[in-house]
Amino acid sequence: MNVSRITGVGMYVPENVVTNDDLSKIMDTNDVWIQERTGIKERRHIQKGDGNSTSVMGAKASRIAIERAGLTPYDIDMIVFATLSPDMYFPGGGVEIQEMLEMRTIPALDVRNQCSGFIYALSIADQYIKTGMCKHVLVIGSENHSGGLDMTTRGRGVSVIFGDGAGAVVVSESEDNNRGILSTHLHSEGKYKKELMLEGPSTGYWVPEIMADNPQENIPYYPYMNGQFVFKHAVVRFSEVIQEGLEANGFKTSDIDMLIPHQANLRISQFIQHKLKLSDAQVFNNIQKYGNTTAASIPIALTEAWEKGKINKGDLVVLAAFGSGFTWASAVIRW
Ligand code: ACO
Repeated sequence: MNVSRITGVGMYVPENVVTNDDLSKIMDTNDVWIQERTGIKERRHIQKGDGNSTSVMGAKASRIAIERAGLTPYDIDMIVFATLSPDMYFPGGGVEIQEMLEMRTIPALDVRNQCSGFIYALSIADQYIKTGMCKHVLVIGSENHSGGLDMTTRGRGVSVIFGDGAGAVVVSESEDNNRGILSTHLHSEGKYKKELMLEGPSTGYWVPEIMADNPQENIPYYPYMNGQFVFKHAVVRFSEVIQEGLEANGFKTSDIDMLIPHQANLRISQFIQHKLKLSDAQVFNNIQKYGNTTAASIPIALTEAWEKGKINKGDLVVLAAFGSGFTWASAVIRW
């Protein structure tokens, strides 16, 4: 079986910084509440006219990742694009990347696993490389949350948490048996699908029905989150799936050089760090600056950690995520 390795990482966030104080001017919230509950200080939002969209940001992050891999878009054999906020209902974002980067007519696949989307996408790339079907796969996570949040006091429990941005990696075939993606671990539990969801417009709840219902609370076209329920499940599943990944490869938590958790909430990351007895140097967080960027959060954090020199050749890197579905996942990588 071939070995797959991440050979390039990239990220892009819009220039427009939105602080907690900025939000407190448009809804009843405040910096202390947001920081105490989530750790978030600011996030980025796309601004009308700045040219960004989910796919545009994904393309910008991809260009950087491809260049760092020493490749051109022409070398890529497949695109796997994870997002819950595509530019269009259909077609998906993958084909937009294919067009924007002027790539060959390669397969373009969209993954809809929300916060776990990037690891699901990475696992697909890993399998295509390991089976010899592809040499270079582009994996993207990108989200435009600000375009679809309820930015009023009614939506404050959700809207203060999320931000916009994109991250991308290139996964390539490698001849070095000692480094690469060692394993990925994916899970789902659909019975909790309604605890964190955006219900419509969908084929189950289409525009005329929504208009006829004219809901004032729990607006179906804004995300709904049962925050405390999600929190309780997240801390359990994150820990489980990290341990599962370590055990599958014969490692202990003390072997981890860098854990990159999906940036859901700083309190969730700190809870896991404490539970697994990891030091500050073993965990990377940047939710303080970007908020929760769902499928983009892991590749953004991975890129920033790499750029800061916190991930080096030979390091044991663990990625882990939990989110809507519920779905959760981990990846164990020898960098
Ligand atoms: N500003 C000020 N007050 C607020 C805000 C806000 N932005 N949002 C809610 N409140 C109020 C509520 O109205 C409520 O007021 P009340 O007591 O008068 O009724 C009070 O604050 C407490 O609300 P809760 O929802 O109970 O607040 P909680 O302490 O649970 O914190 C939070 C909410 C931060 C969402 C928390 O439940 C949480 O972190 N959940 C985890 C979910 C998560 O991180 N999701 C990220 C996305 S999913 C993922 O990526 C895994």
